[in-house]
Amino acid sequence: MTTTVRKAVFPVGGLGTRFLPATKALPKEMLPVVDKPLIQYAVEEAQAAGIEEFIFVTGRNERAIENHFDLSYELENELKQRGKTDRLEELRHWLPKAGQVAYTRQQQALGLGHAVWCARHLVGNEPFAVLLADDLVLAATPCLKQMTGAYRGGTMVAVMDVPREHTSRYGVIAPGKIEGRLIEVKGIVEKPAPAKAPSTQAVIGRYILDPAVFGFLDRHVVGAGGEIQLTDALAAVIGTAPFHGFRFEGERFDCGDKAGFLKANIAYALARDDLRDEVAQFLETRPPGAPKRSRQTAS
Ligand code: UTP
Repeated sequence: MTTTVRKAVFPVGGLGTRFLPATKALPKEMLPVVDKPLIQYAVEEAQAAGIEEFIFVTGRNERAIENHFDLSYELENELKQRGKTDRLEELRHWLPKAGQVAYTRQQQALGLGHAVWCARHLVGNEPFAVLLADDLVLAATPCLKQMTGAYRGGTMVAVMDVPREHTSRYGVIAPGKIEGRLIEVKGIVEKPAPAKAPSTQAVIGRYILDPAVFGFLDRHVVGAGGEIQLTDALAAVIGTAPFHGFRFEGERFDCGDKAGFLKANIAYALARDDLRDEVAQFLETRPPGAPKRSRQTAS
């Protein structure tokens, strides 16, 4: 079987309850970090890794995502007429080409495993990537590109070391042999209590999966939190083909969480030439523990 990864699945069907009311009429993945929606960062990361087919598994409010990855004639004409050609380029250069995007609907938000299973017919019988757009990785080499460069078949999950008290937020691997950035995966468990976690190597939202995983997702096993967990299907494929954790280079932000989302905005702004100085100056005026109120009081 080929080890070239051509297709990527973007599950965007979650309810995003931690971001209500912002996510009442907008998928969480459309929230912007600085000036770009989370889902666009994920698609650009996939493009950088050579992905040619982009499969969105949508839920409520999918229109916003479909529109974002479509041409916008009215807006483009308006910008042309106003001579804003630089803005036009910002709307276009990352757009997937005609026929590269497919959408399928996850009719009920039954969990990440179920969302990935919904893409089975579009993926077919070849290895594929899964990117969770609410995990943002700031890295010199985009995270998925690092992974595809190291991929030799089977299953690969991006992992990072987390404080033991946080293991119950993640899927956590039981590690075997370590070779450079690769860790052999001997077991994987979803949201273990700190005392029961097999390690502190936690899985983040970047995966390269073998299509054999669909055979296990077909069973619709309900796991942690009453959801159909991808982790449980991954646990079932251990031993059938190579399975590695990949210790990526870069800083990961959990943008599904309010504090993580705010930190991402600050980090991405500080990484930009046009914003760095102003934002850094602003942060200097706000030492921890001494919040300043900028609101003016009427005299
Ligand atoms: P989360 O666990 O963050 O859940 O999903 P959520 O519903 O998006 O957010 P909260 O916890 O209610 O605030 C992780 C990823 O899996 C997708 C989400 O869209 C997100 O990218 N997902 C989750 C689905 O596509 N379908 C699901 O049924 C569940």
